[in-house]
Amino acid sequence: MALMNGVWKLCDFNRLYNFRDIMIRKATVRDVKAIRRLLKKHADRGELLPRALSDLYDDVRDFSVFEEKSGASIIGICALHVCWEDLAEIRSLAVSEQYQGEGIGSTLVTAALAEAEDLGIRRVFTLTYRPDFFNKYGFKTVDKATLPQKVWAECIKCVKFPDCDEIAMLKLL
Ligand SMILES: CC(C)(COP(=O)(O)OP(=O)(O)OC[C@H]1O[C@@H](n2cnc3c(N)ncnc32)[C@H](O)[C@@H]1OP(=O)(O)O)[C@@H](O)C(=O)NCCC(=O)NCCS
Repeated sequence: MALMNGVWKLCDFNRLYNFRDIMIRKATVRDVKAIRRLLKKHADRGELLPRALSDLYDDVRDFSVFEEKSGASIIGICALHVCWEDLAEIRSLAVSEQYQGEGIGSTLVTAALAEAEDLGIRRVFTLTYRPDFFNKYGFKTVDKATLPQKVWAECIKCVKFPDCDEIAMLKLL
């Protein structure tokens, strides 16, 4: 999978998914409010952590979005955040409820891993409530204490800090 003109070219996935109506691409500032809405829906259910609008604008270049080709709606989102010279985090992964189970989450994670590889990153971690999902992509549970201190500097912004109940998982590329 490679990123060309802001749009992910999904070589293998193309065969599995009908791409006439949907596509995956890098986010733009115009997507930020839709990203926030999708995050908030899942955050209200305790499935992931909410993010402030200002943080989302700061990190907009981290995000890939899955949208209906009409541009009518964003139905999946995922961010890859570079933390250190060889470490990045997959965060804010969510798929609209009515589109779950169709391979969109899988595509978003695969695209994020490909992006990390393109950036020369060798370790990708995530903090998640869905360890079984990330297991499928080769992530293994690790002790949070093994992640660099810089990761925790970002955690101070989290509503759950310092009582983090997410599971830390790491994948070596
Ligand atoms: C987790 C989530 C992103 C998965 O997205 P999705 O588009 O439904 O997932 P896919 O259809 O790509 O599923 C890929 C595989 O993961 C499995 N899977 C999906 N959700 C899963 C879950 N919660 N736990 C374990 N496995 C899961 C699917 O069965 C599928 O397995 P298969 O390849 O063997 O058939 C989506 O359910 C979601 O947005 N959940 C709410 C937010 C959330 O929990 N985010 C996770 C970050 S903490």
